[in-house]
Amino acid sequence: MIKPLEVTSLTKVFDTPTGKNTVVKDFSISIPAGQFVSLLGHSGCGKSTVLSIMAGLQEATFGGVCVDGREISGPGLERALVFQSPSLLPWFSAEENVMLAVAQARPKLSRNEQRRQANHYLEMVGIAEYAKQLPAQLSQGTQQRVAIARALSLEPRFLLLDEPFGMLDSITRFELQDLVLDLWEKDRRTVVLVTHDVDEALYVSDRIILMTDGPEAQVGLELPIHLPRPRDRRSVSSNAEYFRLRAQVIDFLEHHSKQFQEKAA
Ligand SMILES: Nc1ncnc2c1ncn2[C@@H]1O[C@H](COP(=O)(O)OP(=O)(O)O)[C@@H](O)[C@H]1O
Ligand SMILES: [Mg+2]
Repeated sequence: MIKPLEVTSLTKVFDTPTGKNTVVKDFSISIPAGQFVSLLGHSGCGKSTVLSIMAGLQEATFGGVCVDGREISGPGLERALVFQSPSLLPWFSAEENVMLAVAQARPKLSRNEQRRQANHYLEMVGIAEYAKQLPAQLSQGTQQRVAIARALSLEPRFLLLDEPFGMLDSITRFELQDLVLDLWEKDRRTVVLVTHDVDEALYVSDRIILMTDGPEAQVGLELPIHLPRPRDRRSVSSNAEYFRLRAQVIDFLEHHSKQFQEKAA
């Protein structure tokens, strides 16, 4: 059996000019393989900090992250990240941007084969026809599709997404949410999505992990989302369970994320 991704008693303390800032404290979650999980909380509560520690880009001050029962000690090809900004290399085409990741994951492939692979992933995200274009020639949504193709080209077991749709207009955001859902339906690889968008979290997730407000943010509430799959916006938004869950999430964000902190203090 594949072991879950475990985050155990994660604590992150930043040294700042005004003293130590304990952003997250004793944050623990266990994510079974194949689950689509969202990390939801107010801006600044520490979501990106948790995700970047899961990605191995930052070190935990205490506690840690285990993959396959082993503690991670840095980034790994099995964990791919997509950020809010597509961060493509501007002088490279869409295809070349993806090829860089293919080359990283499979350095022994010939250049032609790397190109073929890159195009395969661009096709998966629906933008094969933009392969030769430079990022500046592409819309924000298409650039973000390139970033998703680049992440997928690593064939990661874990897709870590940090507000990947945050900069998009709402129609493009819907399209990309559906793309990520379709991709997930096909391969069921583990996804951890950081978001502060309640409806986004409800629409895509198997489980929502609500974070309390920082400092010393923790897991405040874990909500399983048993809406039927595959999901589409129309049926989800007419489901009574969706409204019940939405009210519960909003209630937490409005009242309990702070109260919880005060009680814990
Ligand atoms: N490198 C850093 N040094 C000092 N403080 C930081 C650093 N990174 C994040 N923080 C602080 O940690 C808190 C949480 O940040 P972040 O994880 O980005 O929140 P979120 O992603 O939920 O918006 C914020 O108060 C932020 O100012
Ligand atoms: Mg963030």
